[in-house]
Amino acid sequence: DLNPIDNAKFVAARRAVDFVEDGMKLGLGTGSTAAWMVRSLAERVRDEGLRVTCVATSRRTAELAVGLGLDVRTLDEVKWLDLTIDGADEFDTHLNLIKGGGAALLQEKIVATASDQMIVIADAAKEVAQLGAFPLPVEVIPFGWRTTKALVEETLVSMDVIGREVTLRMTGDQPLRTDGQNHILDLHLNRIGNPRQLSLVLNQIPGVVENGLFIDICDTVVVGHPDGRVQVRD
Ligand code: A5P
Repeated sequence: DLNPIDNAKFVAARRAVDFVEDGMKLGLGTGSTAAWMVRSLAERVRDEGLRVTCVATSRRTAELAVGLGLDVRTLDEVKWLDLTIDGADEFDTHLNLIKGGGAALLQEKIVATASDQMIVIADAAKEVAQLGAFPLPVEVIPFGWRTTKALVEETLVSMDVIGREVTLRMTGDQPLRTDGQNHILDLHLNRIGNPRQLSLVLNQIPGVVENGLFIDICDTVVVGHPDGRVQVRD
């Protein structure tokens, strides 16, 4: 028996796996919702003898998928994918996203961009009128990260963004290291007026590797509700 939020994540994940067809090359997202998707996918592979080739967006997801018997390759082996299914931290009516709460935004964006189609799976609470209540993750190179952080703050001031607090993500008393050995800055912005522009400007700053705004990347959002209802938005 799942609690209501986990049930919402589970029903969205299971529905999204219906979009998988035999022979597909798939990107596997990261996070608790994506983990439900990986389990549902492994079940279909086992029960229906579906053949799929998978690329994982994090070490965590790769371990889970391999453990469940899925065929996991590197993106360099597979190069292009048919479909990526991933979670998100927020989505808006344009299906633009904030991702990176699980610190895997860089591989997630590379894998989603390499896919013909991206389906996001999310519980209904993640839908927002305007992105930005969830702190925007920005992956930065450890070298000179304090300087990079100051440049990010200056950029926010020049763009007239309301919230401007920028924090270094920690694990315990150590700065978090991503799978790529980088750090994450979390930008507490409240509301992002122009996500497309902010994404472009952030990625111009030396030391910034990538940011968690996914603009025009997601094609479909499968929304799960705690009572088991599912809506498909595209
Ligand atoms: C990982 O870096 C994120 O982009 C995840 O997709 C996001 O944090 C969703 O996680 P949950 O499914 O656990 O909410």
